Amino acid sequence: MTGLFALPCCLIDSLPLASEPIELNESIATVCYIVAGVLFILSLGGLSHQTTARRGNLLGFFGMGLAIVATIFGVMVGGFATMTVAIVPAAIIGAVLAARVPMTGMPELVAMLHSFVGLAAVLVGISSHLRPGIPVPESEQLIHQIEIFVGVFIGAVTFTGSIIAFLKLRGTISGRPLTLPGRHLLNLVAVGLSIGLGVWYCRIDSVVDGLNPLLLMTGIASLIGIHLVMAIGGADMPVVVSMLNSYSGWAASAAGFMLKNHLLIVTGALVGSSGAILSYIMCAAMNRSFISVILGGFGTAGKGEAAEVDGTVKEFTVADTVDLLNEAQTIVIVPGYGMAVAQAQHSLAQVVQILIERGKEVRFAIHPVAGRLPGHMNVLLAEANVPYDIVLEMDEINEDMSATDAILVIGANDIVNPAALEDPNSPIAGMPVVEVWTAKTCVVMKRGMATGYAGVENPLFYKDNTFMLFGDAKKNVDAILRELQH
Ligand code: TAP
Repeated sequence: MTGLFALPCCLIDSLPLASEPIELNESIATVCYIVAGVLFILSLGGLSHQTTARRGNLLGFFGMGLAIVATIFGVMVGGFATMTVAIVPAAIIGAVLAARVPMTGMPELVAMLHSFVGLAAVLVGISSHLRPGIPVPESEQLIHQIEIFVGVFIGAVTFTGSIIAFLKLRGTISGRPLTLPGRHLLNLVAVGLSIGLGVWYCRIDSVVDGLNPLLLMTGIASLIGIHLVMAIGGADMPVVVSMLNSYSGWAASAAGFMLKNHLLIVTGALVGSSGAILSYIMCAAMNRSFISVILGGFGTAGKGEAAEVDGTVKEFTVADTVDLLNEAQTIVIVPGYGMAVAQAQHSLAQVVQILIERGKEVRFAIHPVAGRLPGHMNVLLAEANVPYDIVLEMDEINEDMSATDAILVIGANDIVNPAALEDPNSPIAGMPVVEVWTAKTCVVMKRGMATGYAGVENPLFYKDNTFMLFGDAKKNVDAILRELQH
């Protein structure tokens, strides 16, 4: 969203100053900005709960629409042709891509959008350096230079970091962490060099000479972004995506300072701080340290070899699973990424309804990083009209697991892996998981014995009370539904 707003701002900055801003337009734009800012805050408030999330989304949508219109029409009276040529095709491409992307591809899209915000901040910074859109008084020259330098630095880190995150999430490059020897020292040297270039940049008056340290720093910051995200292991990517979300907010805010655009500063700060809070919550959920996330280079938990996983796998048929559900009084369903891939939520909602009508207690256990984006499972279950009150967070339900008769794990793997608690050398060691193996019987529905996102073997499949129901989750849930309906 901030990227969308940064774009017209960036374009305005690069347009000829032939037409002077009209004072009245500016006042109207300021009022619109205040209204948009309030709408954004209300939007964030709305997004904090399932029942108000749709309204929150709409408020954000209107706020952003108002901000863009006010920016385009309020601050300038010329250059519409350039704006139209740039914005209209971009908006069409964006809308088509967003409409086509499946829910499971959302994190990749989000990572890509973050990279645009980073790129916008770099472009705004360089164009502000070449020709400030707004005249800068002599006394504020140093502050303006610092704004440009910091904005371009954050933007470049966000740009390349987000592209690496996009490629990792897509599986184009390996999810394994790249741990170069002395990587923290490398980061430190790169930051030190950037600070040195910053001092050089601030001491130069000439626009042409100033471009050298600015572009050199852009190159170094781009490498920092690549290195930070390359060093992060697959299982920790959710935190990285939300961290980059936060960085993109700060990049937009920095662009706002350069353009003297108050709404961009406010919007960027909202995105930056909410992204940081989300990252903190996710770090807590995954038992990772917040500082190590900011510095990068985590996701390499185990120091020694992870324990070998062996044993016998016991299979269940659809009929066995239906028998188990018929006998059980308390049932917990743990959905994961495979449920999203199979789109099994609608059939599952019907299964749940039948079981509840038969007097059983059925609840869902939602792990904070189940699926591929925050709230992924909640969105799918809400879409299938599963009542909110039976959808519980992992922390709310984990202690009830041992008193549960039957657990259905549907397309989940990492989030129910006991190695996270039992094997200190596991790459996911320390990550809290849904303790499904403590229940009386656990049925795991997946297509085969493949590992999950983190690429870690799962000892759950070999436990005495675990039974595997192999096959596509949708096909199996449909078959269970048919048997229950007979
Ligand atoms: P995963 O560990 O990725 O496991 C999903 C399982 O679903 C796979 O093992 C796969 O096994 C199975 N599957 C795939 N397609 C299926 C289908 N059509 N029918 C049935 N099963 C299917 O998922 P999870 O347990 O939800 O854990 C999430 C992981 O993603 C964590 O490691 C988390 O860190 C990471 N991650 C999360 C996020 C956020 S914010 N939620 C973002 C990025 C990454 P088969 O191939 O054998 O069927």
